[in-house]
Amino acid sequence: MYMYTRPAHNKKTADNAGAVESFYDHHPYPPPVQDLDGYRERWQDPQRRHAEYHLFWPTRPYREELSILVAGCGTAQAARHALRQPAAHVVCIDISTTSIQHTKELKQRYNLTNLEVHQMALEKVGELGQKFDKVICTGVLHHLTDPDTGLQALRDTLKPDGIMHLMVYAAYGRTGVYMLQEYCRRLNVGITDQEINDLANTLMAIPADHPLAPLLGRAADFRTKVGLADALLHPQDRAYTVAQLFDFIEQAGLSFDRWLFQAPYLAKCGKIAGTPHGGRLSGLPPAEQYAAMELLRGTMVRHSLIVSRSDAPADDHILRLEDRPRQQFVPIRRHEALCVEERVPPQAAAVLLNQSNNDADLFLAIDNKEKRWFEAIDGQRTIGEILDRDPGRNEQSAKDGCHFFEKLWWYDLVVFDASANG
Ligand SMILES: C[S@@+](CC[C@H](N)C(=O)[O-])C[C@H]1O[C@@H](n2cnc3c(N)ncnc32)[C@H](O)[C@@H]1O
Repeated sequence: MYMYTRPAHNKKTADNAGAVESFYDHHPYPPPVQDLDGYRERWQDPQRRHAEYHLFWPTRPYREELSILVAGCGTAQAARHALRQPAAHVVCIDISTTSIQHTKELKQRYNLTNLEVHQMALEKVGELGQKFDKVICTGVLHHLTDPDTGLQALRDTLKPDGIMHLMVYAAYGRTGVYMLQEYCRRLNVGITDQEINDLANTLMAIPADHPLAPLLGRAADFRTKVGLADALLHPQDRAYTVAQLFDFIEQAGLSFDRWLFQAPYLAKCGKIAGTPHGGRLSGLPPAEQYAAMELLRGTMVRHSLIVSRSDAPADDHILRLEDRPRQQFVPIRRHEALCVEERVPPQAAAVLLNQSNNDADLFLAIDNKEKRWFEAIDGQRTIGEILDRDPGRNEQSAKDGCHFFEKLWWYDLVVFDASANG
């Protein structure tokens, strides 16, 4: 099985942890922001907040008083969470002095009394002596000298029915990144501004079909110096295939709930569904299907997922569509969902897509009836209520309607509030 290993930097040494800390002190990531006004404004929308909540807890009633840990918070992630959820208590940790400083500045500027900031390594998070409803750790574990110990430490801070949001690098889609990391090591490229400029200018000469080329065009990361340094000059990173990721979470006593964006991992979404292998892939057990889809799509650069404790008191927080009467679900649009009416395929009234999914085949072409159903979503009405009030309702259209809402869910266009019939 393909497994990327970095001979020079995968050694588990204290030096490496120091190198990571120093790297982020000099190249805080993401690039610091000072103005979160627009961000705060966008999160005033109650549908947006409900959609976010039910993405994580589809079967639990909505609530705002949550305890949240942001581990490896970088420059602004924790402040964003504290700002958008004033009723939540947000604790954040990071090893980098610069990241902590930026977070403290945002805390002060926005008077975030619900934000608690600690400079500490996440491996030591247990010293806080706190348990959380939600732990967020994105873009961090793959930089640790020992990611297993890090994940285990985070897992131990989860309340029994808590939820964790993780993001780690994906292996195959980052092949070009690792080639260029190796190139930079061979050339001893440093992390001064001049070195990064020279590297950026040199990269303009790589061929259009180099494995890194699509990323250079597509990923926002490569358009800034900090992003380029984070991707190509990082003193330590590793990536996970789906299979490695499932082992990683299982060993830490966690189990998989869902992907943040699931359509790319599902054989029933997009072009793959209509290929000779579509049915065969869909028939695989979920983890096998996700692993096969990662290989077939080939371009995933990160895995974002929701996990919970494998000893959680019950797994009824996970939404299994087949187990529940769907009519009683309340669909809520995800804020990334977009309805496009220009240049749609023949016979379609519109196209629905999630702006965060990069794959060009992940869209739903819908007819007028489906467009009416989509537009009737208000975050209050159940699927049954939406279908009942439709002028052309009959037994068949009610069945089609249920299937349509399921498709909206597969394609990451809605989440369901299934708390009423839990
Ligand atoms: C790529 S940034 C991601 C920041 C943020 N999570 C986000 O998604 O925007 C990685 C952050 O993890 C922090 N970090 C790295 N190793 C850490 C460790 N062992 N403990 C705590 N923070 C760490 C770095 O200082 C840096 O701020």
